[in-house]
Amino acid sequence: MVVPAPGLPARVRIHEVGARDGLQNEKATVPTEVKAEFVRRLADAGLTRIEATSFVHPKWVPQLADAEELFPLVRDLPGVELPVLVPNERGLDRALALGARRIAVFASATETFAKANLNRTVDDALAMFEPVVTRAKAADAHVRGYLSMCFGDPWEGAVPIHQVVHVCKSLLDMGCDELSLGDTIGVATPGHVQELLSALNEQGVPTTVLGVHFHDTYGQALANTLAALQHGVTTVDASAGGLGGCPYAKSATGNLATEDLVWMLRGLGIESGVDLDRLTATSVWMADHLGRPSPSRTVRALSHKDQ
Ligand code: HMG
Ligand code: MG
Repeated sequence: MVVPAPGLPARVRIHEVGARDGLQNEKATVPTEVKAEFVRRLADAGLTRIEATSFVHPKWVPQLADAEELFPLVRDLPGVELPVLVPNERGLDRALALGARRIAVFASATETFAKANLNRTVDDALAMFEPVVTRAKAADAHVRGYLSMCFGDPWEGAVPIHQVVHVCKSLLDMGCDELSLGDTIGVATPGHVQELLSALNEQGVPTTVLGVHFHDTYGQALANTLAALQHGVTTVDASAGGLGGCPYAKSATGNLATEDLVWMLRGLGIESGVDLDRLTATSVWMADHLGRPSPSRTVRALSHKDQ
């Protein structure tokens, strides 16, 4: 049943991260052809922005070491944007050589995670991204700037909002087209989300350039998403079946499940373009490959509804 609620957008753009954020965290390495089939099935379910892989150091994220093999298998999917993660110029060269049109750099709001994830201080990581963003823009590529640990950090605790705002502004100043605010370890709650969004607005960052990226460790991802939608955010990151985590933050669990998001959007009458049955079937298929059930409540409910 569709029952709209006031103050929400008519349409939400889902930035699907299952093939990247999800699979980067799997113990077993998924065969390249299975990843390609996953991306094709996600596209077939109506997702139009599918983060495909990362051009990072293969020793840092072995699960995505096949980026060169995978990307050409999916890059010609019609009507689908395929962003890829790129930490430095070496990664950018690899991505551009294969025809990537959308890249994402990934900064940290905290020093400890910058060191763990990028082997750099926050400022040195920003300096590493600067030529990446400049060259990507010169090549006419779209650039997303991720910011991790926007709410809490496993080593540093609660993250002061001014620290987050500072790095967001640096990413925009260097030329990022959009930002994705990451709750890497899933500790945010809705008031905190709205407080951060308001603080960014007050510092001149418009909501139109902001996306949200919630991990679901404490079961808050959907509530936080609704808070962000109420604030006017229309780009939401989610991961099919709730796959996900970060190998350099052990307390990160799966992302907001795309199916849970689509169930809520559909009930609110908000367009996402996604066919929930096809998407659920894809997550069940992937869960079979991974040998464990999807953590998504919606996937479980829909796939067991005849039993
Ligand atoms: P480093 O060890 O400091 O690298 O790692 P370096 O710059 O000193 O280079 C060392 C060697 O690595 C060199 O080779 C480079 O060429 C090579 P050598 O000259 O010694 O033979 N190298 C590369 N090779 C291939 N591709 C590359 C590349 N870069 C250097 N791109 C580095 C620094 C940034 C490379 C490393 O820390 C890294 O790859 N980190 C990636 C970590 C990662 O992918 N984490 C997960 C994604 S972030 C995330 O999940 C959070 C997010 O979802 C949002 C949220 O939830 O908050 C986005
Ligand atoms: Mg993430």
